[in-house]
Amino acid sequence: MSAPLIESMIAAVEASPTDLPLRLHLAELLVTAGRGPEAVTHLAVALQQDPGHGDARALMARALAPAVAESGPSLEAAPPADPSPAPPPGQARVDWRAYEEELAESVPPRFARSGDEPDPVAGEEDRIVDVETSAIRLADVGGMADVKKRLELAFLGPLRNEKLRSLYGKSLRGGLLLYGPPGCGKTFLAKAVAGEMGARFVTVSVVDVLNMWIGQSEQNLHQIFETARRNAPCVLFLDEVDALGHKRSQLQSSAMRTLGNQLLAEMDGMEGTNEGVFVLAATNAPWDVDAALRRPGRLDRTVLVVPPDADARRAILEVHLRDRPIAGIDLKRLAAATDRFSGADLAHLCETASEYAMHDSLVSGQVRMIEQRDFEAALREIQPSTGAWMTTARNVAMFANQDGAYNDLAKYLKKHKLM
Ligand SMILES: Nc1ncnc2c1ncn2[C@@H]1O[C@H](COP(=O)(O)OP(=O)(O)O)[C@@H](O)[C@H]1O
Ligand SMILES: [Mg+2]
Repeated sequence: MSAPLIESMIAAVEASPTDLPLRLHLAELLVTAGRGPEAVTHLAVALQQDPGHGDARALMARALAPAVAESGPSLEAAPPADPSPAPPPGQARVDWRAYEEELAESVPPRFARSGDEPDPVAGEEDRIVDVETSAIRLADVGGMADVKKRLELAFLGPLRNEKLRSLYGKSLRGGLLLYGPPGCGKTFLAKAVAGEMGARFVTVSVVDVLNMWIGQSEQNLHQIFETARRNAPCVLFLDEVDALGHKRSQLQSSAMRTLGNQLLAEMDGMEGTNEGVFVLAATNAPWDVDAALRRPGRLDRTVLVVPPDADARRAILEVHLRDRPIAGIDLKRLAAATDRFSGADLAHLCETASEYAMHDSLVSGQVRMIEQRDFEAALREIQPSTGAWMTTARNVAMFANQDGAYNDLAKYLKKHKLM
């Protein structure tokens, strides 16, 4: 059976999904062409519509029967010698490999690669270490003027200007720890730094390292740093670093402790090896980060990333509404009504408002835009999520700030009457 005919039949069935005879005809064509698995899907739909349908049941039996029963083109493609033992007589033998090949053909790839892109090296696509390119730039990060300024001073400026660097004897190494409540843009900000850096940005999720590399985590952590050194000058981003640099005294498992020590060793590096490697780290729980990681030459600078202020909230809302059908949204009002919302909370707010508008359209049968009233409704439902973090932070700033590491935090909490 010719593939084009089958393809047009598939399109026809999609256009009239309730046409049972049409679907059965397609299923028959598929079975005859040796495309059993596809036929099964259609027959399942048909049998749902009419469970007792004789033809459908018979076809289903054929579709599920061994591929050998049909003289389809996939047979020739099947590997000649199969080492698996023959199934007992009477039991259908399924040629899974042929099925998979069939399915691979019928499901087109989601993305096409244009001619000038290199083939991905085998095994490299799914690594945890990525030399990342990002389309997000610092300008896309709403608000955070302070944070941006410090990144610029500590790193981006010196990186761009080598002459100035040598004039001031500034070394391009060291690290900076972003900390703050969840959903307030730490990861997002790091991606923006990646965007500013071009390809010189290596990112790694520490939680993934722990989950996937049990038993060889240290070796892999070393590989990550080596990748960064090879790409220097470059930023190595360690997200959720508390998982790794967890206060060593609290660690139960010795494997984790070794990994923490490995991180310290890598950050110290050997003489000169880390030149040009800047470590950017992020955590929601700085109090769980090993104090040894904060010593000079390591993550010795910290930057507090707080919930967005009104201007930043406005910018974030704008980003999230960019691709939605909206009418008459009062951004200023929304920004004013969302004090203490995180960036993630704002994203959730937009999502919820869209759902209200969609629900209304479904009920009334009249498609309409997302309006201010949808946001008002969503606001009644959504609470800011940063409260719990602030409570913990308050305790830390009050009782565990002897060395002044949390002065920024204390200042913020006082200013917002949270302490
Ligand atoms: N300042 C910001 N500007 C624009 N979007 C933001 C900002 N802060 C947070 N967001 C949005 O909130 C989402 C969650 O932020 P994320 O960086 O994952 O938080 P964190 O890493 O601090 O937990 C981001 O993907 C982004 O869409
Ligand atoms: Mg994050």
